[in-house]
Amino acid sequence: MKKICTNTSAVHPDSENKVEIRSFFILLMHYKEILSMVPEEAKKRINKLRQEIELHNHNYYKLNQPTITDFEFDLLLGDLIALENKFPQFFDPNSPTQRVGSDISREFQQVTHQYPMLSLSNSYSETEVTEFIQRVEKFSGERPDYVCELKLDGTSISLTYRDGELQRAVTRGDGEKGDDVTANVRTIRSIPLKLQGNYPPEFEIRGEIVMPFSVFEAINLERGEQDEPLFANPRNAASGTLKLQNSAVVASRKLDAYFYYILGENLPADGHYELLQQAASWGFQLSPHTQKCSDIKEILHYLAVWEKKRTELPFATDGVVIKVNSKSIQDELGFTAKSPRWAIAFKFKAERVSTRLTNVTFQVGRTGVVTPVANLEPVQLGGTVVKRASLHNADFIQNLDLHTNDLVYVEKGGEIIPKIVGIEVAQRDPSSLPVQFIKNCPECGTGLIREEGEAAWYCPNEDECPPLIKGKIEHFISRKAMNVDGLGSETIDLLFQQGFVRNVADLYDLKREQLASMERMGEKSADRIIDGLKKTTEIPFERVLFALGIRYVGETVAKKLAKEIQSVDRLQQADLTTLTSIDEIGIKIAESILSWFSKSQHLELIERLKGHHLKFEVDNTKIEGSSEKLKGLSFVISGTFKNYSRDGLKADIELHGGKNVSSISAKTSYLIAGENIGPSKLEKATHLKIPIITEENYRQLTD
Ligand code: IVH
Repeated sequence: MKKICTNTSAVHPDSENKVEIRSFFILLMHYKEILSMVPEEAKKRINKLRQEIELHNHNYYKLNQPTITDFEFDLLLGDLIALENKFPQFFDPNSPTQRVGSDISREFQQVTHQYPMLSLSNSYSETEVTEFIQRVEKFSGERPDYVCELKLDGTSISLTYRDGELQRAVTRGDGEKGDDVTANVRTIRSIPLKLQGNYPPEFEIRGEIVMPFSVFEAINLERGEQDEPLFANPRNAASGTLKLQNSAVVASRKLDAYFYYILGENLPADGHYELLQQAASWGFQLSPHTQKCSDIKEILHYLAVWEKKRTELPFATDGVVIKVNSKSIQDELGFTAKSPRWAIAFKFKAERVSTRLTNVTFQVGRTGVVTPVANLEPVQLGGTVVKRASLHNADFIQNLDLHTNDLVYVEKGGEIIPKIVGIEVAQRDPSSLPVQFIKNCPECGTGLIREEGEAAWYCPNEDECPPLIKGKIEHFISRKAMNVDGLGSETIDLLFQQGFVRNVADLYDLKREQLASMERMGEKSADRIIDGLKKTTEIPFERVLFALGIRYVGETVAKKLAKEIQSVDRLQQADLTTLTSIDEIGIKIAESILSWFSKSQHLELIERLKGHHLKFEVDNTKIEGSSEKLKGLSFVISGTFKNYSRDGLKADIELHGGKNVSSISAKTSYLIAGENIGPSKLEKATHLKIPIITEENYRQLTD
């Protein structure tokens, strides 16, 4: 019998339905926790979940670099929905539960969808699919036909046709508005530009743009040879390609498109399936293997077949979509705020394979955190060859009880960086030893440190370890710190390699000729960097302080310190009592500051930066904290706020150049909604489509 060790203890080791059982346990645990929560706890958890989910949305839609699986994302979202339902007093119109993610980018013209592009609610088990069918039948009072379709894992697109010609192609965006990518879509050969046969005069058709595995691998091979970053998966490759500015490059990438949804007035059939067949005769390529099913038995059979056979498909899929066939029954069932009641997605379990661990290497990140990476015998998984998997941290290795040369199970949930999810202990060589986490930094040899309560080990050699030096410089020049134009991580790497910079003060000693002589750099780029550095002399002290990269001194702490202490000289002289007497500065931050200023090389660094005229004290000639960030914007505030009195908030708006108005009109820029906001203000703002923001959102506007 197979014995699989996993890092989730609530899993039956021999179960075929491990993921399903795991989801069940996790959900049960979460809901029990939620039921017993008091409002204060719930509020904290809600805020944390909202932030976390927004971050994952950003990683997924904007960066195309998800760091968690769809399943894990759904768990977070599920928790938030449950909490918001149980504690309606914490409703927030800007909660991520109120919208679908966004792929809008700045380069394309934005277009409002005539019919919003909603997402589907997800299910992970046969039970959930059965419950969906029961719900449909209960609400509609009928036993309708269903259509099962493969859930293609690409990027969705909405096409508008008028008089048989393609008018416009728009991405999903945030569901309400998307990017007009018509020029790029026209290059996809399987998309008809002119229709044939008996098509309706005007309609929209939606489908998925995909990059077949064969194309994906060929592109990545080429990118690898040219030292360009690889695409993580075919979905990212497809969406990244669709957002390119150069349609000729898009054409060379050989995207494909399959269609699965038609919208419009007076369509020529009531059945979704029948309509799709007609669309095929107009020239559209349909989602392949679409099948009509008359009952749950046929649906479950389809799921079972494709759960296995999907690995034979030439493109990525992540589930099956089950839809009610009749459009009139679909209309009766309608939509929730986010998804149709007449359809559900059944998500496939993450694909899993086994392979041998060859060795574990350790990478030092730019903040000093050491990440273990498993190097594996190459294995085919989810359409790509996997050679490496993340091992996260020392605890993860220990919990797995990973030994050298182990046979490991690798999963790619939602096609992100593969994970090791278990070990085949029966196949272990009895003489193999447990994998040991290193004690010294592989880059500079310094002993690694781990702070109490934290999972990560890090290299503390901030001034001499190469990745940390580069990380510090990157932080210094970053947008929220000194915002140096023209400098990026590649240039920093080059400058470091050539020995031109070892700390942030060295940047100011760079000569124009020195920069211009560097690879891929010309006189213009050199001038931009020199100018960018010159401009940093105008940056206020609080940002200079943040830019120094003192551990735990983030933007907010730097602001606080600058306000209370006023200058770097006074900060250097401050003792533990002085520092901890400042609101929000605890012992951990204070000790970190003291330790930073105790090093002579840091004092020297400050002297050199002072010599380059950076601001090391608060400029009291300007009204402190004033800006023009809200110039031209008008605000209505309603409700009570956590961090401001109502008058305080109004004063802050004015301090930043904004205007306070008492009632909402079409001209209002924002409604800032506090707790216990009046329903009439909310209604009016929603009606006039005035953005409703929280106190936290407002802070981001002025930060
Ligand atoms: S129907 C109102 N059918 O899944 C529902 N979507 O989570 C419209 N997808 O954004 C979507 N294959 O990108 C539908 N056969 C299929 C699909 C499919 C893939 C994607 C699509 C959509 C997402 C919903």
